[in-house]
Amino acid sequence: MTAAVQPIRSDSFVRGPSAGHFSSYVVADALSAGCELGILDVLADEGAYHLDRDDRELDPVVVERLLNGLVWGDVVRVEDGVARPGPGFADAYAARGYFYWMVRGCGALFSDAPRVARRDQRDGAFYSRDMRAVAVGSHLIGDTAVEGLYDALLNEREFGTLADLGCGSGRRLTRVAADRPGVRGIGVDIAPAAVKLAARSIEDAGLADRITVCEADVLDLPEIPGGTKVDVITCSFMGHDFWPYDRCVRTLRGLRRAFPNAGRLLLCDVVRSTARPGPDTPIFTLGFELVHALMGVYVPTREEWHDAFAASGWRCAAAHEVTAPPGGVMFDLEPVAAHG
Ligand SMILES: C[S@@+](CC[C@H](N)C(=O)[O-])C[C@H]1O[C@@H](n2cnc3c(N)ncnc32)[C@H](O)[C@@H]1O
Repeated sequence: MTAAVQPIRSDSFVRGPSAGHFSSYVVADALSAGCELGILDVLADEGAYHLDRDDRELDPVVVERLLNGLVWGDVVRVEDGVARPGPGFADAYAARGYFYWMVRGCGALFSDAPRVARRDQRDGAFYSRDMRAVAVGSHLIGDTAVEGLYDALLNEREFGTLADLGCGSGRRLTRVAADRPGVRGIGVDIAPAAVKLAARSIEDAGLADRITVCEADVLDLPEIPGGTKVDVITCSFMGHDFWPYDRCVRTLRGLRRAFPNAGRLLLCDVVRSTARPGPDTPIFTLGFELVHALMGVYVPTREEWHDAFAASGWRCAAAHEVTAPPGGVMFDLEPVAAHG
């Protein structure tokens, strides 16, 4: 390490921005853990979390220290052994999926960044993420602004069978089918942990007779049972996995072969930000772009998506801005009558 850059005082980092960065990491960790352990849900539903609640499963000292992080972050207040929502709770609760995605889903990858950054380490299966947590985090991220938009768009036209690509937790499929008696669903995901999670939630919702989930690679789709019945396709937060450009065009064409009667593809994804990092940088952007760089996944800009649609037999009828996640765009696509 170089000694060329010295702090003003040898201990000037103890308080101030660097101390804030350190404690923010603990807040992110506490929000992720509080999400999985149900502590945030108790605070949201009951307005109070008693540290001595009869919860023998959790170590009380660990819970207290997690809550200390949340106190520092203004997320909760703790008094007389009771935590209650603080001024920042409502926003932090709405954003809990982002923290769960980042810490629980991608934490191992972040901590392995120094190795993964090395060019000679980037071959084969060179990183790992917790795909169950990525799936859960993603559906929580989608809950605030994306799923309502899907519902509004799906309500515009009747349909019989929906295929959801990169279906993750299976939450969209279960909601759409539960709200529309007779509608069938097909989920496709490459990650065994996501397929298992989706299958369980579909079973729990009593919808296994109408929704199936298959483990398959959307980039190279095999024949999907029931594929010819699909009239609408949805795909959230995995479109960037289609890229680079040539593979994206191939994949979009492949969807037309696998689902020849689909009249609509609703594809929602976060596009690459072209803004410089600064005080207005929203939640997610830096983490999303760093994670995909670590994985070697290209994140296209909105313009690059339009070029790929034009070359692949899909016409973009509309593109809706999505406020959360920041940088999200919902492309409403329909097949062009004849394509090469
Ligand atoms: C960020 S998650 C989004 C999950 C879900 N669509 C949602 O909105 O909550 C991306 C999902 O796409 C899946 N996926 C990534 N690449 C895939 C591929 N080539 N084929 C099928 N699924 C893929 C991942 O396993 C993961 O479950």
